[in-house]
Amino acid sequence: MSVERQSATAARPAIATETHPDAQALRAWWTEAWSPATKEETYEITDIEGEIPRELHGTLYRNGPSQVVLPEEGYHKLHLFDGDGLVNGFRFDDGHLHYRGRFVKDASYLREQKLGRYYPNGVNVVVPPENDEFTIRQQHNTNVVHHAGKLLALVENAYPFELDPRTLDSIGNYVFDKPMVGYSVSAHPKIDGRTGQMLIHGYQWYEPYLQLYVIEPDGHCSLAEGVDAPYSVMMHDMAISQNHAIFPLAPIMMDGNVLMGGGSLNQALSWDREKPLRFGVRPRSAGGEVRWFDAPSSAFFFHVGNAYEENGKIFLDACTYQNPDNLLEGIREWRTGKMNYVDAVPYLYELDLETGECREKQLSDRGSEFPRLDDRLVGHPNRFGYAVVARREAGNSYERVLGCIQKYDRQGGPSACHDFGVGQWTSEAVFVPRAPDAAEDDGFVVSVVYDGATRKSFVSVLDARNIEGKPLAKAHLSHRMPMGFHGNYAHGVV
Ligand SMILES: [Fe+2]
Repeated sequence: MSVERQSATAARPAIATETHPDAQALRAWWTEAWSPATKEETYEITDIEGEIPRELHGTLYRNGPSQVVLPEEGYHKLHLFDGDGLVNGFRFDDGHLHYRGRFVKDASYLREQKLGRYYPNGVNVVVPPENDEFTIRQQHNTNVVHHAGKLLALVENAYPFELDPRTLDSIGNYVFDKPMVGYSVSAHPKIDGRTGQMLIHGYQWYEPYLQLYVIEPDGHCSLAEGVDAPYSVMMHDMAISQNHAIFPLAPIMMDGNVLMGGGSLNQALSWDREKPLRFGVRPRSAGGEVRWFDAPSSAFFFHVGNAYEENGKIFLDACTYQNPDNLLEGIREWRTGKMNYVDAVPYLYELDLETGECREKQLSDRGSEFPRLDDRLVGHPNRFGYAVVARREAGNSYERVLGCIQKYDRQGGPSACHDFGVGQWTSEAVFVPRAPDAAEDDGFVVSVVYDGATRKSFVSVLDARNIEGKPLAKAHLSHRMPMGFHGNYAHGVV
């Protein structure tokens, strides 16, 4: 088998000093931060600054794309969304931290390993099909969630893929115990912080355009239904409130004919600026009717922070792209390093269940992505959120992007920010409560940071109540873990 790999050790520009950052060098560092890992690693992390809080007893799972067999056109041709899933497990146990990384050995991965060449179509790269089979890779590279004792790697164009929670060994495709009503589920399930129910949607370019599944805490699927929608869009995320599932129908249109004709997913997607951002609100119970709310403007977002109901309204926050054309081009060019900013900004949407009105309010003009909160409050009123934001004062865009973690306060308190500094880019931040009954915000904000200067990653543990302060711990990996997308912490799973 011939496996081509991207060299991560080629000569590269160095940054002279922190005060005179060099944009070309930073671009090289930034590109390297996202480039694939070359092997699976397993080791105890022993190079630790500070102390890992002993209250952390569980595993932080993270997932992201890390392509092993590259296309003929090379690594830089890949789309942001392309790549084999590499699931990373950080096991916290009594002040110790153990790392393990394993590729998700799904059908796409195994077939490609067998063939020794990139096949079939990724999001950017089109490969002529060998027969009339459906030719889009299903690479479980977007999220990993632990629910009902199952560890599931997720991507939005496939069913979940089950992994062993401890070894991360691949087990196989996972379907729910009711007949599936679509060909895939999303990578963004929402686990109700109070009930433990997991709600997950699917979308496709033929009817039913949307699907909803409810998985009980014991793993039983209690609802699997199609959801009426006026047309098909790319719907990356959904939200839940106490009584409703909320479907953000943002007008990133997906042309199924392009896909069926052998085109790439990237070619099939476009923004229809004439259509508004709409929210479909549907009771979480069986047979619920959808009610549509139109936002004042056309926009798109990948990620919801949280949603909840209060005084007859649903409040939903998200990181919104006001010009999705920029986004579509940027994620297509991500691997070249051309995309060096995130222009999503935080918005609050207010859906009035009585009048049917939708209001929107921009909360900040600072680039913001990967919004998270205390998972115990998903679908319920929360005060605090944690997002990755741009370094506002930095001199060039590679310095700004993904440089900080911001804590925001819905009650209008001062926001606080942890700045990792030049050439250090943080992944999504996950909040872990100090104890099961700890108050909101009493706990730790954990993320994986790539340090361009050392060409290695470290795990950062911040005190949520003093987020701008020195990290409680920086646990230095002995290798570079590619930047990734999403992950979750599982208490007690060590
Ligand atoms: Fe996502």
